[in-house]
Amino acid sequence: INIAKPNRDLEGKKVLITAGPTRESLDPVRFITNHSSGKMGYSLAEAAVERGADVTLISGPTNLSPPMGVRLIKINTTLDMYNAVMKNYIDQHIIIKSAAVADYRPETVSTTKIKKNEGNLTLTLVRNPDILKELGCLKEDRVLVGFAAESDNVIENAKGKINRKNLDFIVANDITEEGAGFGTDTNIVNIIDKNGEIEKVEKSSKREIAHRILDKAKKFIK
Ligand code: CTP
Ligand code: CA
Repeated sequence: INIAKPNRDLEGKKVLITAGPTRESLDPVRFITNHSSGKMGYSLAEAAVERGADVTLISGPTNLSPPMGVRLIKINTTLDMYNAVMKNYIDQHIIIKSAAVADYRPETVSTTKIKKNEGNLTLTLVRNPDILKELGCLKEDRVLVGFAAESDNVIENAKGKINRKNLDFIVANDITEEGAGFGTDTNIVNIIDKNGEIEKVEKSSKREIAHRILDKAKKFIK
């Protein structure tokens, strides 16, 4: 690796990355979320900046500090993320959706703290918009990259998502594998493209995987 002179091969390219979990409030003190640490998305943002891209990072709550040189937009809920993406997607060359988005949100958010009673509490959850699917409908020449964290039928499930969301490729990982998935510094992924080509990346740092994803994305730029 040439450390002295980084490869600025994404100079002039605009890259939009979403990262981290979303949070769906129940009341002023409680929320529903997931185990996403944001590490994969932040590694992607850092790698893209290094390569000269103009990077916008739309991030849910994480413990990470934003890489130098990115434009950071912080959000909490999926609807916030949806709005931020819709405001920023239009002139992007590459969009990478590494965020772990909540598929559902509570139907109502109580303005006051929910009090306990005898017996059970039933929550009604309603569907959130599928941000990536919507971007797929608005595709044009933008390179569209999804993530799929799966616990079973990894390749098959991920291929289904490429078709349903009109993606160029998807980064699939099996969260049951040691050294892959949530919170780890490493990942093991399969990069599967819309032409059926599969590139397996053995256990590597999220930073290394970020560069592999950007290499692949570059090939799809028109
Ligand atoms: N995604 C999104 N908006 C959602 C849900 C998911 O943009 N409401 C994106 C994720 O950021 C990811 C990709 O879609 O890049 C796949 O997410 P995943 O949860 O694996 O797929 P789903 O379509 O939600 O299917 P399921 O959870 O049922 O497996
Ligand atoms: Ca989902």
